[in-house]
Amino acid sequence: MQCPTSISAVVAIAAIANAVSLSDICTVTKIQSILPSNGTLLGFDFIPSVVMASPIYNATTGMAGGMESTTTANAQTYSYCNISVTYTHPGKDDTVTVKYAFPEPSKFKKRFYVSGGGGYSLSSDASGGLQYGAASGATSAGYDAFDYTYMDKVLTGNGSINWDATYMFGFQALGEMTLLGKTLTRSFYGMSNTSKVYTYFEGCSDGGREGMSQVQRWGEEYDGVIAGAPALRFAQQQVLHVFSSAVEHRQGYYPPPCALNKIVNATIEACDPLDGRTDGVVSRTDLCQLHFNLSSIVGESYYCADTSSTSLGFGYSSGGGPSSAGSTTSYEPDQNGTVTSKDVAVAQAIYDGLHDSSGQRAYLSWQIASELGDAATVWSNTTNSWTLSIPSTGGEYVTRFIQLLNTTNLSDLDGVTYDTLVDWMNTGMIRYLDSLQTTLPDLTTFRSSGGKLLHYHGESDPSIPSASSVHYWQSVRSIMYGNLTSDAALAELESWYQLYLIPGAAHCGTNSLQPGPYPENNMNTMIDWVENGVKPTRLNTTVSSGPYANETQLLCPWPLRPMWTDNATFDCVDDEQSMESWTYTFPAFNLPVY
Ligand SMILES: *[C@@H]1O[C@H](CO)[C@@H](O)[C@H](O)[C@H]1NC(C)=O
Ligand SMILES: *[C@@H]1O[C@H](CO)[C@@H](O)[C@H](O)[C@H]1NC(C)=O
Ligand SMILES: *[C@@H]1O[C@H](CO)[C@@H](O)[C@H](O)[C@H]1NC(C)=O
Ligand SMILES: *[C@@H]1O[C@H](CO)[C@@H](O)[C@H](O)[C@H]1NC(C)=O
Ligand SMILES: *[C@@H]1O[C@H](CO)[C@@H](O)[C@H](O)[C@H]1NC(C)=O
Ligand SMILES: *[C@@H]1O[C@H](CO)[C@@H](O)[C@H](O)[C@H]1NC(C)=O
Ligand SMILES: *[C@@H]1O[C@H](CO)[C@@H](O)[C@H](O)[C@H]1NC(C)=O
Ligand SMILES: *[C@@H]1O[C@H](CO)[C@@H](O)[C@H](O)[C@H]1NC(C)=O
Ligand SMILES: *[C@@H]1O[C@H](CO)[C@@H](O)[C@H](O)[C@H]1NC(C)=O
Ligand SMILES: *[C@@H]1O[C@H](CO)[C@@H](O)[C@H](O)[C@H]1NC(C)=O
Ligand SMILES: *[C@@H]1O[C@H](CO)[C@@H](O)[C@H](O)[C@H]1NC(C)=O
Ligand SMILES: *[C@@H]1O[C@H](CO)[C@@H](O)[C@H](O)[C@H]1NC(C)=O
Repeated sequence: MQCPTSISAVVAIAAIANAVSLSDICTVTKIQSILPSNGTLLGFDFIPSVVMASPIYNATTGMAGGMESTTTANAQTYSYCNISVTYTHPGKDDTVTVKYAFPEPSKFKKRFYVSGGGGYSLSSDASGGLQYGAASGATSAGYDAFDYTYMDKVLTGNGSINWDATYMFGFQALGEMTLLGKTLTRSFYGMSNTSKVYTYFEGCSDGGREGMSQVQRWGEEYDGVIAGAPALRFAQQQVLHVFSSAVEHRQGYYPPPCALNKIVNATIEACDPLDGRTDGVVSRTDLCQLHFNLSSIVGESYYCADTSSTSLGFGYSSGGGPSSAGSTTSYEPDQNGTVTSKDVAVAQAIYDGLHDSSGQRAYLSWQIASELGDAATVWSNTTNSWTLSIPSTGGEYVTRFIQLLNTTNLSDLDGVTYDTLVDWMNTGMIRYLDSLQTTLPDLTTFRSSGGKLLHYHGESDPSIPSASSVHYWQSVRSIMYGNLTSDAALAELESWYQLYLIPGAAHCGTNSLQPGPYPENNMNTMIDWVENGVKPTRLNTTVSSGPYANETQLLCPWPLRPMWTDNATFDCVDDEQSMESWTYTFPAFNLPVY
């Protein structure tokens, strides 16, 4: 072996301190060598022969991972180690492939990042953490989740639930991916096996539910979880997507879509000023619900030009695998009319929410002023009338998860009453209580290992009601701090779990009908909270369009509510009557609904 001169030895030592190169450590042999041997990481047996690893240089990654603006991230390039590892659960003979993206050593900031998916898909992109100097990963979940949605896999055949896929999608696959990913991360970068790897999760919609699933069941693994509009309370949430159609069916009236759009627009216009500023945004849907009467819209005229449009489906939809219905082309004639009391009765019943036949509340609903997308009817050229359209988001849940039939939607709602919807919710809640429901309200493990939870929800979300998030927050508060005064409980909770409602925002994004604010740097906020101990007191958001475009708004943490005092600033107020309008019990079920 050649002896270095003293000068080059100094250079070499400096070089080792500064840079282990990617090509040095990003090899199959290296990854095989750092795989835990069978039996040491409980629940994992590795298949070393199929390990893959190769350096990727100067790649542009398309996806920021979360639901935030990707424009700045897109401009960057990253070099990373592209890794794929396969394991089986001992004795099970299944195959789970996990892929990881490990940033080049000089960019690594001792972080691990997990991004959520959406619809019935887990994220298949492992590169979301690169912009944060974080290693990150994605999992095939044992059911080929890179190529199929969970919806495609939930049944092995009619009447037979695929429980392995259900638990893996529900929470297990991501927890395992993270646990293993952090283990490999430490070895890859030469950290001790007890060193801190700051671990983050970020997602919205089902991604938000996935985040909550990790907080609830893998709490010790995560330091910071950002959960947007989580699709938790899965059974109630999915059956809710059938509710609007059921209202129309029960009332025997299928409103023209333009009439419902007019009702929404007129509600926004009427309620916008109630929050103290006329900016096109209903920042206080609670005041709108308390003080605005929908029937005042009766008689207002509407017009929508005829369209022939291609629809990609609405809101919370399945993830585009072979089972998803895909796009449909629909024709709508000119709609020129005035809002009738029948139109308003449909909208009112939808906003009131599902009650059983004895009048007991079964579920909450979308906030007034939210779009009524699930209620959209379709034009029939045959009968020249508006007809029933059951959103497949809800219909496919009922056929596959409740009826256990391999079909993509309910064909009709004949014989379906409100009690039927309650039964479907009850069946779904009980059947999937420990897999998909995702409402465990005791987060002690997460809390006591120092975890921080940032939970947000568009107040005018027309897919997952924002009150759904409020109800979960209230459940956590009462289960964990039920013996404290409400001030003391709030003080405890906000030290690690904060909920923000985003005025006017829709489902995991801004709302074309209400030009309001949206958070764009949640990860910065979270990193500061976790790594620097800077607890947020407000949520930083930016208005993206309209007369106040580019305005920064620092939003109020729930349960405080905004009230503009002039056109430039707002206070965060404590309004008991408003609060009550967000507080629900669900006596239609015998079990507690968290
Ligand atoms: C670990 O277990 C897997 C699955 O049983 C097996 O294929 C693999 O060879 C085992 N690894 C070692 C090093 O024995
Ligand atoms: C990556 O980009 C850097 C900076 O532009 C350049 O020096 C380097 O050669 C590139 N690497 C590869 C493999 O293209
Ligand atoms: C990363 O590795 C996987 C599996 O080895 C491969 O399919 C994929 O194309 C690689 N990614 C890139 C960006 O090369
Ligand atoms: C469900 O039906 C589709 C065709 O409609 C078929 O391709 C698929 O294999 C079926 N899946 C199961 C699990 O039966
Ligand atoms: C509702 O408002 C939106 C935009 O503010 C507009 O595009 C749409 O045409 C309106 N719909 C009706 C029925 O007035
Ligand atoms: C809608 O109907 C009203 C009354 O019949 C008529 O005055 C108006 O011109 C119509 N508007 C359009 C755009 O067709
Ligand atoms: C329904 O009728 C309209 C207007 O006549 C036509 O443009 C459209 O293609 C028809 N749609 C279907 C599905 O037949
Ligand atoms: C599953 O059930 C659906 C709905 O009843 C039916 O159309 C389909 O043929 C069944 N599939 C099999 C494989 O029996
Ligand atoms: C509330 O209950 C918790 C756990 O049961 C206990 O540690 C705490 O001291 C109680 N606080 C009060 C104010 O009773
Ligand atoms: C809010 O975020 C913007 C960037 O989106 C940043 O420029 C600004 O400093 C932040 N404000 C606060 C108070 O954190
Ligand atoms: C918001 O910022 C964009 C880009 O900087 C600018 O083009 C636009 O005019 C601004 N809008 C308002 C209302 O200030
Ligand atoms: C706020 O803006 C509205 C118009 O949007 C205007 O009528 C009102 O005078 C403004 N109030 C103040 C205090 O500037």
